[in-house]
Amino acid sequence: MSVALKLDNVTKTFTQNGKTIAAVDDLSLDIQPGEFFTFVGASGCGKTTTLRMIAGLETVSSGKILFDDQDVTNVTTQKRGIGMVFQDIALFPFMSIRDNIGYPLKVAGMPKSQIAQKVEAAADLLSITDKLSMRPTQLSGGQQQRVAIGRAIVKEPKILLLDEPLSALDARLRTEMRTEILRLHRRINATIVYVTHDQVEAMTMSSRVAIMEAGRAAQVDTPRQVFRAPRYESVATFIGTPAMNVWDMQVTGKAGQPVLQGGGMTVALTREDAAALDGFRWVRMGVRPAALKIVPQDEADFSAVLHLREPLGFEDECHLETADGTDIKLVGRVPDTLVEGASLHIAVDRADYCIFHPDTGKALRHGLAPLTAA
Ligand SMILES: Nc1ncnc2c1ncn2[C@@H]1O[C@H](COP(=O)(O)OP(=O)(O)OP(=O)(O)O)[C@@H](O)[C@H]1O
Ligand SMILES: [Mg+2]
Repeated sequence: MSVALKLDNVTKTFTQNGKTIAAVDDLSLDIQPGEFFTFVGASGCGKTTTLRMIAGLETVSSGKILFDDQDVTNVTTQKRGIGMVFQDIALFPFMSIRDNIGYPLKVAGMPKSQIAQKVEAAADLLSITDKLSMRPTQLSGGQQQRVAIGRAIVKEPKILLLDEPLSALDARLRTEMRTEILRLHRRINATIVYVTHDQVEAMTMSSRVAIMEAGRAAQVDTPRQVFRAPRYESVATFIGTPAMNVWDMQVTGKAGQPVLQGGGMTVALTREDAAALDGFRWVRMGVRPAALKIVPQDEADFSAVLHLREPLGFEDECHLETADGTDIKLVGRVPDTLVEGASLHIAVDRADYCIFHPDTGKALRHGLAPLTAA
């Protein structure tokens, strides 16, 4: 099967005040037909620039863009056959919803009767049939966003580009629209390329995500894989709320029996861990808040003082301090009897930790093998 969208060493540089920056830096990736692919990352990491180059709204400085194995690098936006929705919904205020959605077809010179049919079908998909005669100002933010999506899909594009389409909506509506977009994706036969800075959106909606950092993709993977096996400390701490706990650990112990020491705990390494950490004096250990458990003292890896409890509803987010003063967070169901100031015994879930390179942040080990507490 051919690749729906290929970015081949794509770079985009901008020069501002005599300074040149690479907004997108030698980016290469393949997106398969029908995928829901998301670019996620902090502000300024190059997400919009990437999407604009895919759309043909921005030229590439170097590299190639291919749709279905066809080089479209120098093809105009109109001829790329894509649908687009951007962050700020720009509907035509004096046109009805019907005319807004049908606009791309009218421009393409489609006969009126056919336009009417396609607009009805798009409106039906998005549950806005009863709004077709209204003006944009008579619609809520979420409904306007549906119209913008309707306008983007009415030409039945093979690739639908969405740049932060939900960021203007309130939290509740955002969650609702997330489901709507997923439902739409199941019903239309299109590849979706989505941009967001919201990691929850990225993790819940996508078949694969690209975690962008300074114009580069730090990791391209399924949401599950990015969460369980982050390639870098930066990816690990970006994905997941509250963020992964990461602290320094010293590699000590006798030859053949290395241990990790730091964060108020001592952990004996397995043979696999030891091999991966050979030659390191320091490493960074990462444990997700939900991978820490409150246990009886004889099962504990370390002790910590409970400083603050924040109820999340079903679970609590606990701020803890270990014996050596490291601040860590734990998320879980905590007995009501444990009050602030209490001393807790904590165990690390053996299936869920990471060890990172102290300088590059590259993952050296993922917690898929058991650690043994010393
Ligand atoms: N037309 C332009 N001229 C100069 N610099 C630009 C231009 N467009 C983008 N940039 C710069 O390129 C970098 C990437 O911008 P981009 O808009 O792609 O980021 P983003 O990831 O979409 O961020 P956000 O989450 O804030 O939307 C930024 O440093 C930005 O200032
Ligand atoms: Mg942007």
